Amino acid sequence: MDIHKSPKFVEKKLKQEFETRAIHVGNHSNERTGSVSPAIHLTSTYEQDSLGQDRGFDYSRAINPTRQRLETNIATLEEGEYAISFSSGMAATTALFQTLKQGNHVIVSRNVYGGTYRVIDQVLSNHGLIFDFVDTRDLKEIESHIRPETKLLFLETPTNPLLEISDISAISHLCKIHKIIIAVDNTFMSPFGQRPLSLGADVVMHSGTKHIGGHSDIISGLLITSNKILADQLYFIQKAVGAIPAPFDCWLLLRSTKTLSLRVQQSALNAIEIAKWLSKQSMITEVIYPGLASHPQHELAKAQQVMPNGDSIFGSIISIRLKDEKSRDQFIEKLKIFTFAESLGGVESLSCVPYDMTHGAVPVDMKLKMGITPTLIRLSIGIENVNDLIQDLKFALT
Ligand SMILES: Cc1ncc(COP(=O)(O)O)c(C=O)c1O
Repeated sequence: MDIHKSPKFVEKKLKQEFETRAIHVGNHSNERTGSVSPAIHLTSTYEQDSLGQDRGFDYSRAINPTRQRLETNIATLEEGEYAISFSSGMAATTALFQTLKQGNHVIVSRNVYGGTYRVIDQVLSNHGLIFDFVDTRDLKEIESHIRPETKLLFLETPTNPLLEISDISAISHLCKIHKIIIAVDNTFMSPFGQRPLSLGADVVMHSGTKHIGGHSDIISGLLITSNKILADQLYFIQKAVGAIPAPFDCWLLLRSTKTLSLRVQQSALNAIEIAKWLSKQSMITEVIYPGLASHPQHELAKAQQVMPNGDSIFGSIISIRLKDEKSRDQFIEKLKIFTFAESLGGVESLSCVPYDMTHGAVPVDMKLKMGITPTLIRLSIGIENVNDLIQDLKFALT
């Protein structure tokens, strides 16, 4: 039996909707005690019955029941067959790149998260992998960078923090022709807002720290795929390298995915209202939000970013530009409900300056060329009352 694929999952995947699967897959009540919340397996090792005879579990770096429950749950939400969990989003991304060999070439969205840029530029490039940062919104631009050694295309959509959107379906088609694995960092949308595997991608990556965790209390990373060969490679890297999540974090994540649909919907509802309001404020020179008709890829976002019921959803991140650094500093200082902090996707609203914070590791000329300027502020909209959030922004702008 494939220990990573429970028969119950396959059955539920076919029959139940996202919200139901989020609550029930991987969360069966305990058979002996009936406890509705399943226990956490805080154990490093497992008693074996005799030499070579264990009960499916031998050592927790390799396998743990709580982690296994999380992986089953996440796999079904992304409509994949296998999920592999890690101690951070960066550990998940690195594990994916570790499936490659020296001399392999990778195409990466030009505006990826700054930490992704940093690990590529300062770690992985030293190990013989070759990377090209490309504007993946442009199919021709991607095609012009494909070489015989290209093995992986790593897409981030929408990107952090410019919210550039790439066409997952069209790029997947191109990758199939050239036999390139396509991975999508789906952190900004969560599986509730976008399911890249159903659009043709081979693997999905998440910083589980964001929407999936949702409460700014866990660092986590996840990879999801239906490709058995890739999944086996990734489970092996998970075990061999050992960047695994602790059972308690897996348990917290399982608790978080139960409310994922509600949180993601509410923060997106708040975000669209706030984006519209921000667009009318003269102090703000630009509002970037895929839900606004002014966004250059609004139509693509509408078609690609959909909830499981098929309705469009535009996410909870808004980037705004103020006219100068003085107004930026005053604005940030005056915000009271929005906390000035890195990260996103939590129940609480946050603000940050990507130029110095999340994208500090990206070279200045690259940042400026893309539009990550010092006066760009990224807002992560939480699920507080939208009127309070608008009041907070209004006060900070006056
Ligand atoms: C889009 C995106 N991908 C990956 C990461 C890295 O995740 P982590 O911080 O969990 O390592 C982040 C973190 O901000 C992110 O925003």
